[in-house]
Amino acid sequence: MGKQYKKVLITGASKGIGEDISKTLIHQGYEVYRTARSNMQDKNYFQTDLSDLNNVKILYNYIKKNFGEIDILINNAGQYLYEPIEKADLKKTAELFNLNFLSHYYLTSLMVCDMKKNKFGRIVNISSISGVLGEAYASLYSASKSAFYGFSKSLALELAPYNITVNSISPGWVETNLTNTALSNEEKIETLDIIPQKRFIEPNEISNLVLYLISDKAKGITGQNINLCAGLTCGC
Ligand SMILES: NC(=O)c1ccc[n+]([C@@H]2O[C@H](COP(=O)([O-])OP(=O)(O)OC[C@H]3O[C@@H](n4cnc5c(N)ncnc54)[C@H](OP(=O)(O)O)[C@@H]3O)[C@@H](O)[C@H]2O)c1
Repeated sequence: MGKQYKKVLITGASKGIGEDISKTLIHQGYEVYRTARSNMQDKNYFQTDLSDLNNVKILYNYIKKNFGEIDILINNAGQYLYEPIEKADLKKTAELFNLNFLSHYYLTSLMVCDMKKNKFGRIVNISSISGVLGEAYASLYSASKSAFYGFSKSLALELAPYNITVNSISPGWVETNLTNTALSNEEKIETLDIIPQKRFIEPNEISNLVLYLISDKAKGITGQNINLCAGLTCGC
């Protein structure tokens, strides 16, 4: 029997979408390593703040030394920011862009070496429909998520000869801590009203799509973005 490509690293996996992806993949027999800032009692967890890009190399070194080569990378950690552009602050701006995009760019650059050597890899970026549609008062968040499109397509081309796929999932509003913090109860009702399916996406819907994209069945899908948004990107 050939090698089983089952080692997964998921960023932002202490709660929300990342936690759900972890649970789903573990349930399916994947060996999952997780990272986020919270202090968690789990031998497969590494605590770090990815808004500081110096921590990316530290994370990579820790994973490589303790767990070996990673086959599947899920770039998920991220924060939302909703404020008028006049409030832009250079430090906060850099930290958000670092966390939402550059940390994943850099982490991927470190992880692909082993993937290329092994002639196998799956990379899934968790973007957002805010990066597809644009969102007033969320221009920085939107820009940090749009960055995944050029990144996924370009990297898919670069890595295609090595049997490595690179795809993005762009969720609409998902029932998580991020949404509960961003929207008041009143805003949730208004938001539900404009979503064609009149519901928030459940984290498990993202996890099931990840599961498919990393499976052998999806080996021909690369450089793609899939909007998982209950119809929000279809128009009105
Ligand atoms: N919820 C939505 O409606 C929605 C829609 C579209 C896209 N997304 C995207 O989906 C991803 C996950 O979001 P979510 O809804 O699951 O949000 P969440 O519940 O707030 O979880 C975010 C995850 O990222 C980690 N994280 C945050 N800041 C970090 C930092 N500086 N360094 C390292 N890890 C950090 C958090 O862990 P710690 O707090 O422990 O660090 C947590 O594990 C994000 O990229 C988000 O932009 C979400």
